[in-house]
Amino acid sequence: MKKRTNLSAFLICLLALTALASAETPRRASFDADWKFSLGDAAGADKPGFDDAKWRSLDLPHDWMIEQPFDEKSPGGDGNGYLDGGVGWYRKTFTIPATDKGKHIAIDFDGVYMNSHVWINGHDLGIHPYGYTSFEYDLTPYLKYGDEKNEIAVRAEVVQPCSRFYSGAGIYRNVWLVTTNAVHVDHWGTYVTSEVKGNSAVIIENTTVVNNGSVPVVVSLKSTVLDSNGKSVGWLNMSAISVAPGQSTTAVPRQSIENIKAWSVETPVLYHMDTELRIGAEVIDHLDTPFGIRTIEFTIDDGFHLNGKRVQIQGVCDHHDLGCLGAAINKRAVQRQLEILKSFGVNAIRTSHYPPAPELLDLCDQMGFLVMDEAFDEWKNSKTQHGYGQFFDEWSERDIVSMVHRDRNHPSIVMWSIGNEINEQGAKNGGEMSTRLADIVKREDPTRPTTSAMSNPGGAVKSGFYKPLGVFGVNYNIGFYTDKNVHGIKPMIGSETASALSSRGEYGLKIGKSGDVEIQKEFDHQVSDYDIVAPPWGNTAQTSLMAVRDHPWMAGEFVWTGFDYIGEPTPYGWPSRSSYFGIVDLAGFPKNRYYLYKSVWTDAPMVHLLPHWNWEQFAGKQIPVWCYSNCDSVELFLNDKSLGTKSWHDQVQMHREWSVPFAPGTLKAVGMRDGKVVATDIVKTAGKPAKLLLKADRSELQPGQRDLSFITVSVVDADGNICPDAADEVKFTVDGPGIIAGVDNGDATNHESFKGHEHKVFHGLGLVVIEAGKQPGEIHVTAEAEGLAQAAVTVGVK
Ligand code: GAL
Repeated sequence: MKKRTNLSAFLICLLALTALASAETPRRASFDADWKFSLGDAAGADKPGFDDAKWRSLDLPHDWMIEQPFDEKSPGGDGNGYLDGGVGWYRKTFTIPATDKGKHIAIDFDGVYMNSHVWINGHDLGIHPYGYTSFEYDLTPYLKYGDEKNEIAVRAEVVQPCSRFYSGAGIYRNVWLVTTNAVHVDHWGTYVTSEVKGNSAVIIENTTVVNNGSVPVVVSLKSTVLDSNGKSVGWLNMSAISVAPGQSTTAVPRQSIENIKAWSVETPVLYHMDTELRIGAEVIDHLDTPFGIRTIEFTIDDGFHLNGKRVQIQGVCDHHDLGCLGAAINKRAVQRQLEILKSFGVNAIRTSHYPPAPELLDLCDQMGFLVMDEAFDEWKNSKTQHGYGQFFDEWSERDIVSMVHRDRNHPSIVMWSIGNEINEQGAKNGGEMSTRLADIVKREDPTRPTTSAMSNPGGAVKSGFYKPLGVFGVNYNIGFYTDKNVHGIKPMIGSETASALSSRGEYGLKIGKSGDVEIQKEFDHQVSDYDIVAPPWGNTAQTSLMAVRDHPWMAGEFVWTGFDYIGEPTPYGWPSRSSYFGIVDLAGFPKNRYYLYKSVWTDAPMVHLLPHWNWEQFAGKQIPVWCYSNCDSVELFLNDKSLGTKSWHDQVQMHREWSVPFAPGTLKAVGMRDGKVVATDIVKTAGKPAKLLLKADRSELQPGQRDLSFITVSVVDADGNICPDAADEVKFTVDGPGIIAGVDNGDATNHESFKGHEHKVFHGLGLVVIEAGKQPGEIHVTAEAEGLAQAAVTVGVK
């Protein structure tokens, strides 16, 4: 018996060793782990042997800016949320197996903000100024193999002011090591398009093969189309592809497939192209390209059509920061944002104003969002002192090609924006400049229209800036929707709308001169959460929604913005450090506008009441009560007494209002459709703050994936009602295999660190984000605040 156990253990070991010996380096492997980081310049850090032992150890992605204290004097100013940039260095020491000698080895950076400069073993690989485009370097000529160590060094520099919004700083996106044979499919070398005819489609795969070897080769391609279940539904073959040494060849096989399943917002079906590159019978490269089959058309008089059907674009513009996590990309954090956006009917994202992290596009493909992928916020005429203008002449073609090549397989992307509110819109050479960029985009991807988000549409018409564009993007300027130079001539979209301002849970109610309760629009660096405030160039959410609704040729709108973001605290400056534009606040909590959009953009019956019902100081006075609903009518009750029914059939306003004399108790709205109660909302007067509650959005996380649980902390009364005025300081403790990745409460004026272990709540709510470590186990999170019963929650890591 004992002998047999030993024998099987030996066999298992042998099998494992054999597997190890033959284990191939994956084609693309994460290169995020075990970097060293130092803030500030470091002479000689590019050289091999540099002593970085005392530098901080970290895994990428990393954003050093979010770790800085808010400082009124920060050169980044309000644009960057009063957080500092400067210089940062990253170094990593690594080995490459001897068996990979002769392979082609490249490093892919999804994004480094900004002015990155990279060295391998002391060799200068180059600079990449733009912080938002992805780039690759060939490491092959400089690598050492086996036990010999390689050293890579990256310097990033953020010279402020360089941005109108929070940029982050450092290697804030993922890094990959790509190992292939010398003959391989090029970087972003597959480009899959389709020509749909009824129920079938011709699939076309442009594949670029590179020969980094020293002899000519003849290769063949065998690509398999896999449906969403992984079943082969078609083959694209091409043989006798000659590639000379040091050259590349693009092969374009085509194949028709039947019974296609179209990608759509409701059913985001993805296919995969499984591409094999062969020499003779040997597979020398193998890669997977997800893609979708769908048709898109922007029409002149009927908006946007997806697969032949009109789809209203219910979009938001969003910046890339993930609130308290900063710019460091985290897929779960992006997924949570998209889930929140979907929950109120958003079906489209504008990646304002730069190409996003690839993970966002993967999620949009999978979750069914339409995307307007945008290249720039400025061209040659910069908007900030150290902005992109200085790089425009030399880099704009490379940067826009990087965007299109990286992103053109994503079915979610339905248009390319060559820029936002470009200063040259109305300039004499505006037409020439837009034509150059639009032509580059069309050359690299003729399957989607180009657009630009124009704040000076009249100027853009005069200068000819708009001419090469497939879709006319109007920012604000709702009067322009009927402009006779464009309407009826080109497809149009509200590329940026609203810019409505509000602070979650702030209402600004006060006694006015007349002795009645009035809504104060702004106060103490906060903006009322009734939808009544917009900057001079913008509109309230309601006005923008109605403008788009009433002009059906408009393909829809991209609201500025889905989420609040760090920086641009319009209409204020210091001490405000983040925006007020979001439909959702920086922590991910809905403002009241969320429910307005939900009432217009979704069908499942809903009713929402505002404000809260704790106005003891205004006893007996009339409080403006607003209601958002998609029901036919809503009846309002205070303490079970009806205050009347209002219908939604006239469309002059998108909300309904009652004036309700304040008495503590319960305000209830009952929504009816076809005479039946289909939705209710209840707001209760909360008692004194009694305890904390913790609620995790996910109670099970994966180890080693930087997986996140977003835990909401609320201050509630003895009955569990949220106390709308609570501003308690909450202290968080974490025990187990996890860390606090960030804390926030959505208050744009709060200066506590996003990386601290304590944070105030804002109108009763706060957020702590827990990141799972590498080990499995249980993370115990506790929240404590003076005078309140504490709360605890457990998150498993499995
Ligand atoms: C727009 C601009 C956005 C943002 C917004 C604020 O003009 O495109 O980036 O600044 O204004 O309202």
